[in-house]
Amino acid sequence: MHLHTFESLAPRLRIVSQFNAMTPPDRLQDLVGQLRSRLRNVLGVTIGKGGEGKTTTGVNLSHMLAQEQQDRAEQGHEAKPVLYIELDSNGNGRLDLKILGSEVDDDGKAFVEAVTEDKAFSVVRNVKPYLDMTVAGSANSELATEIGRLAGKHAQAPYLMLAMLLAQISHLYAWIVVDFSPGDVNVQRLGLAAVTHIVTPVKNSDDAMLGGLEAIANLVAEIRLINPELGIVAIGFLGFKKVTGEATGELDIVRTKIELLLEAAGLNPSMVMRDHIREARHIATVSRNNGMPARELALAANEMLLDESGKPVPRPRYANGRLVEPGKALDLADDWTVFTGDVIKRVVSRNIELEGVSA
Ligand SMILES: Nc1ncnc2c1ncn2[C@@H]1O[C@H](COP(=O)(O)OP(=O)(O)O)[C@@H](O)[C@H]1O
Ligand SMILES: [Mg+2]
Repeated sequence: MHLHTFESLAPRLRIVSQFNAMTPPDRLQDLVGQLRSRLRNVLGVTIGKGGEGKTTTGVNLSHMLAQEQQDRAEQGHEAKPVLYIELDSNGNGRLDLKILGSEVDDDGKAFVEAVTEDKAFSVVRNVKPYLDMTVAGSANSELATEIGRLAGKHAQAPYLMLAMLLAQISHLYAWIVVDFSPGDVNVQRLGLAAVTHIVTPVKNSDDAMLGGLEAIANLVAEIRLINPELGIVAIGFLGFKKVTGEATGELDIVRTKIELLLEAAGLNPSMVMRDHIREARHIATVSRNNGMPARELALAANEMLLDESGKPVPRPRYANGRLVEPGKALDLADDWTVFTGDVIKRVVSRNIELEGVSA
């Protein structure tokens, strides 16, 4: 694990500064047109509220995709790393990937300055095999202020600053996963302008969750001008019980509610995923507290995760000292494998459509 800085990226602020409220719309369209085809491997994990499992989903999706690349490399195929980017100032991704408080943890300062001031863009390389990440923390709250201030002077163009940054490095990554913040609308726009496919996690069944979903659907429609390719590719569920591998009535009800909401909004209910991530709150807590995504935790619980000297790392334990059950940890990791497979299948087929349209 070390910091890697991308050299000589083209400046974004200078381009944005050429825009104002009087700029003809086709200038913005030209810029968007140049960016779009380079951002089709960028996924966003978002729902317009906190605590629905965005970070858990973003981290596990990234980790599963990185594992797939590692497998490809081991089989002698071409492989590229995956990049995980968190926008939220709570910076929980640092916990999930074990960099909180380490020497690379700057509370998000460098990332915010790279996005808003054209400063050097760095990633933490190899936080897990084939997985890089940017650092998010308290400094990320300044993204909202800065993008808002720039939007006051340069109209919509500043929302493209992350898109312009990622378009320059996306070819170096198999996938880029952006884990959103639930709050400020300017940060939402910044993120939504940069991603092509949205994955929405649902963990709660109340009206606040439905409100969050509606907020995202509205933003997707609102942002068309700066991202005509944006779409919700999958709505997935986590933290719902599985009984003999099947969903229970509780999830069926949530699913139906969401499908009705989508139909009313003129959206295709097929984006609702059939499989789901089972309820495993205690394992998820061990996972986060140990900085091990679900698959890594499952390997450790089964004494299959080796340290540098080739010895199995100690089996992970709950806070009360009890060992994490190997079978339960595997079940959760397997759920994430199925989830990731389904998401990527949807993304790939959507990309084929998008490439057809733009060709
Ligand atoms: N499979 C699961 N079952 C139950 N709870 C889970 C599961 N996975 C994650 N959680 C819990 O969900 C909570 C919200 O997760 P988080 O990813 O931080 O949400 P967000 O990023 O949307 O704010 C965390 O406390 C986490 O432990
Ligand atoms: Mg989060």
